[in-house]
Amino acid sequence: MEKHDVRRNLLIVDDEVDILQSLRLTFVKEYEVFTASSGVEALEILAIQDIDVIIADQRMPGMTGAELLERAVQISPNTIRIILTGYTDTASLVQAVNKGHIYQYITKPWERQELKLVIKRALESYDLVLENKRLLKDLQIANERLSTENTILKNAVAKEWRWGEVIGSSLAMQAVIEKVNRVTKTPVTVLLTGETGTGKTLLARHIHYHGPRKDKLFVEQNCGTLPESLLESELFGHKRGAFTGAIQDRKGLFEAADGGTLFLDEISEMSPGLQVKFLQVLQEGQFRRVGETEPRQADVRIIAATNKDLWVEIENGRFRSDLFYRINVIPISIPPLRERLGDIPLLADFYLRKFCEKFSRPAVGFTKEALSALIEYDYPGNVRELENLIERALILSSDAQIDVGEWLPTLPPSSRNLTRLEQLERAEILRVIKLCDGNLTLAVKELGISRTTLWRRLKYYKLLHELQPEQNADVSD
Ligand SMILES: Nc1ncnc2c1ncn2[C@@H]1O[C@H](COP(=O)(O)OP(=O)(O)O)[C@@H](O)[C@H]1O
Ligand SMILES: [Mg+2]
Repeated sequence: MEKHDVRRNLLIVDDEVDILQSLRLTFVKEYEVFTASSGVEALEILAIQDIDVIIADQRMPGMTGAELLERAVQISPNTIRIILTGYTDTASLVQAVNKGHIYQYITKPWERQELKLVIKRALESYDLVLENKRLLKDLQIANERLSTENTILKNAVAKEWRWGEVIGSSLAMQAVIEKVNRVTKTPVTVLLTGETGTGKTLLARHIHYHGPRKDKLFVEQNCGTLPESLLESELFGHKRGAFTGAIQDRKGLFEAADGGTLFLDEISEMSPGLQVKFLQVLQEGQFRRVGETEPRQADVRIIAATNKDLWVEIENGRFRSDLFYRINVIPISIPPLRERLGDIPLLADFYLRKFCEKFSRPAVGFTKEALSALIEYDYPGNVRELENLIERALILSSDAQIDVGEWLPTLPPSSRNLTRLEQLERAEILRVIKLCDGNLTLAVKELGISRTTLWRRLKYYKLLHELQPEQNADVSD
């Protein structure tokens, strides 16, 4: 309790000098005693002096004790208010007591010791009340903090990060993964671009959780879901009272991500005004909570993502080129799934196993036709769409083999544009098979890949029909 070892201030109010004198003697040893001979004088003292307890006589000319104490509530609400009164006056005080203007009344004549005890007890219980109030407030603030941090943590855990799940055997994806692996070790700013569902969020997490910051928070914010002012306070925090509803100081995601990573998704949606502020933060390495003037520091690694072409956004005046150059330190662009067909069988297989496990179903596979249909589809929603498709396929079919069926989307198949590198790979495979006279065992050796990989490649490039039937059986076993 804060004030115990300090002398407490007592104000005694009575129009009779003798009584003032005798009360002063009663208390002067233990308390700092102030005296006033009228209500008006008492109010003047209250206005300039911290008073812990006020003891007022009820019957005084001019202002009565009860009137004084009622006005004292306004000036000094925390002061304990005690009244001295004759037996006959108690009835008139009931109302004042009930309204809380008076803490306690003491009837005349009083016992010195009793009066001392009353004051002591009053102070003790009042201290407890104040202490409780303060603790309660601290608790509320702590709760609020915890709840912010809790949301962030939940956010991170709910996305149930599992290791090593970035799948991709296509050359295009191998190049992406290689680039990603190179940036994980350094705190350099990364800009991930790619259509929705291509794995931007997955890769951002991968970068964080494989790097030296993995034990600090990975904090994620979509720039397209909040209006400018809310986004600013979400990112940088705010001072209590900075705007309506800002009832507490609040830490922003920037501070929460100190030592960790802040992933800004849909960066193209950040408003021009906030883009200016954000650029400043990146340049100065400092930020300000909304409503604060003192800058703060946080060591945050930034990963940004967008599914838009930022060049187009810059051209149309929606995105600042200076901010673009600041975040485009290491650009990583993830090709759409339809441009890396080689990943489809792997991903399909991965998700099939994942959903079998989730639904506690025995392992199943795809028929050849189903697999070709999967490869031929063009996936406007990319890997996310493939994932949903596989889940639907599993739910809709109860057989051990999933065949073509109503789960397949009805959109037109892709034109199967192979990338330049894939064209080269396809040509190389054909060349080696011809070179080996169709001997696949030799071809596998010559290509330096496994039989399974060769089979996948042949299937992917629709080359299986070029083999003799017995060779076909030979590779796929
Ligand atoms: N290369 C990949 N390997 C495994 N899963 C992937 C891959 N790319 C995307 N996914 C999965 O596809 C879904 C969509 O990916 P996400 O990262 O949310 O895409 P984006 O952020 O680009 O919209 C997620 O479930 C993600 O785990
Ligand atoms: Mg995403």
